[in-house]
Amino acid sequence: MTVPIITIDGPSGAGKGTVARLIALELGFHLLDSGAIYRILGLAATNVELKLDDVDSLVSLSNSLELSFPYDAESTQIMLNGASIGDQLRTQAVADAASQVAVHPPVRDALMSLQRRQARAPGLVGDGRDLGTIVFPDADLKIFLDASVEVRAERRYLELIQSSQTVERSVILRDLEIRDVRDRTRKVAPLVPANDAHVIDSSDKTAAQVAADLRDLCQAKGLA
Ligand code: DC
Repeated sequence: MTVPIITIDGPSGAGKGTVARLIALELGFHLLDSGAIYRILGLAATNVELKLDDVDSLVSLSNSLELSFPYDAESTQIMLNGASIGDQLRTQAVADAASQVAVHPPVRDALMSLQRRQARAPGLVGDGRDLGTIVFPDADLKIFLDASVEVRAERRYLELIQSSQTVERSVILRDLEIRDVRDRTRKVAPLVPANDAHVIDSSDKTAAQVAADLRDLCQAKGLA
């Protein structure tokens, strides 16, 4: 049985996670935070002191992950092998490790079935970089959510200081620019909009405004 799938791809800080949760909540769909999968792998690899280019070990680590993303109106939880992971994925170091493990094609392949397994009735809203292009190429609705790098850096800054992390705005901006280049130019599954994606720029919009745009698109597709 095929289930309806909505994909929201785009660079870090474009607001994908919040918008994905708002839409999933409205439709009663499951949620997939694919960035969290790469972050968990990056964190796990760092914890056991694996080199971030040790592809064989990263693949076997990938095969041991089982994840789900229960959520409510306020937040999304990340459950790894049955236990909730707290805020430890939201650091710059983990984001950078995630972006580094994500460049290896065998690692991406190993994480594919884990992501596809999340597509269960009554439907799925997923956010990431390549969900509309590679993971779910037949998705019912594809969004590419973008924003200027300055706006995205400011959002990340506010997010990090809210979770009591000490960070410099300029460091976040530089890290985002480095990560953007790596994500957009990697050979496999680069960050690009799918041909049939609706591109939305969220620079001057709140998450609620973007969610309203998506609601209209869902209605036009008969998904809501
Ligand atoms: O969305 P995020 O910031 O949590 O993602 C962290 C990193 O994971 C990102 O820099 C690239 C990688 N990633 C990816 O390669 N493919 C995805 N579908 C999601 C994330």
